[in-house]
Amino acid sequence: MNPFIQIHYPKAWSHIFDEIACNFAKSNYLPKASKSKFNDKDLKFFLKGIRELSEQLTTERKGPRIGKYRNYMNHPRFRSAYLLYFLPLQAAKFYSVLFENKDRLRSYVMARKKIRIVDYGAGPGSATLALFALLEHLDLINQVELELIWIDQNKKIMQDGVDILKAAFPSSKFTIQMHAIPPKSKSFKADLVLFGHILNETEGSPDRLVQWTLETLDQESIGSVHIEPASKQASQRLGHFRDLFVETGSVVSPCAHSSRCPVSMGREWCHFSIQSQAPGRWFKEVSKKLSSEKNWLKFSYVWLSNTKATEKTDGSEKSNSELAISDPIYSTQTRQYFVFTCRPEKPGKQVFDKKPLRIHRGSTLAVARDKDSKKIRRKTR
Ligand SMILES: C[S@@+](CC[C@H](N)C(=O)[O-])C[C@H]1O[C@@H](n2cnc3c(N)ncnc32)[C@H](O)[C@@H]1O
Repeated sequence: MNPFIQIHYPKAWSHIFDEIACNFAKSNYLPKASKSKFNDKDLKFFLKGIRELSEQLTTERKGPRIGKYRNYMNHPRFRSAYLLYFLPLQAAKFYSVLFENKDRLRSYVMARKKIRIVDYGAGPGSATLALFALLEHLDLINQVELELIWIDQNKKIMQDGVDILKAAFPSSKFTIQMHAIPPKSKSFKADLVLFGHILNETEGSPDRLVQWTLETLDQESIGSVHIEPASKQASQRLGHFRDLFVETGSVVSPCAHSSRCPVSMGREWCHFSIQSQAPGRWFKEVSKKLSSEKNWLKFSYVWLSNTKATEKTDGSEKSNSELAISDPIYSTQTRQYFVFTCRPEKPGKQVFDKKPLRIHRGSTLAVARDKDSKKIRRKTR
């Protein structure tokens, strides 16, 4: 993920998250809510729930799989907390990844009259909302029929999401099915499958989910997009999912190859942080109150495809590019800077005499090895 990417949000973004979602939370979750718009007093009411949920979702030691938080979406205070804070946060992460791949998405959508999208662990449909917002930005939202399949163990949070989606995109043509458990994979094919913070909430090996995803996508599908937290545990769990998936399929992005991920275990891990100022007054207010002003979006992600890897993408052919998986690190021993890079099986390293200013975790580095593979010329893209 290009760390310097300039994300352009559609004008509707603030309207969706500041007005529709906040007013929805107010009128559905605030006892004796007045008819006035969401305001500071309302935020005060919801803040305790937001703080508690934030602590659960972001502290690895606790995690959402434990005790009363196992199905936290059953609690109205956490559903409202999710709508007010995590919905815009997750949507902004998905929007960024989709935005970076917008040309691919545009041509895929333009070639079809109808597309089927699965949102797995949909919650309030954060990933779907981001996709709709991008289609709106690309002027495509009313050009295509959208068939949505949402899967979540909690029906209530999905219903909240459907109400918000309908209010946000009243003229788009979409149908929606909601499922508590995934429909049989062989019973349908999807164009795109979105997974937002779902591996982080499930236990055991992801084998069955990998199999389900592969069977749901066909060779022409645009693929499956997975966003998980930036933490080591979450990122390596995603890396493990990716490694199982690429035994059959391949990686579209961010990896420069479809061989085994060099950091799906071990000390390093792969994650991104991009500067992004998602519009929205209430999102900013809450972020400030949580002392985590969200100028930076942090996440791990992968975009997978059910198309078999070719020599070009599986790393067996000498690749011309590598992904930086660390920021520049100064070595006091050599007095040089180095950056860890993604190479098949084990991380590579590029060395610089001066601090490389345009390289950050997520940068693509062009690599040209000389004959004995020792000297490396490099430039950034
Ligand atoms: C952190 S939320 C993510 C929601 C949304 N994808 C997003 O990115 O904002 C995780 C969601 O996964 C759902 N979930 C957890 N375990 C599940 C399972 N085994 N099957 C279906 N849904 C599950 C939860 O109910 C919750 O709504």
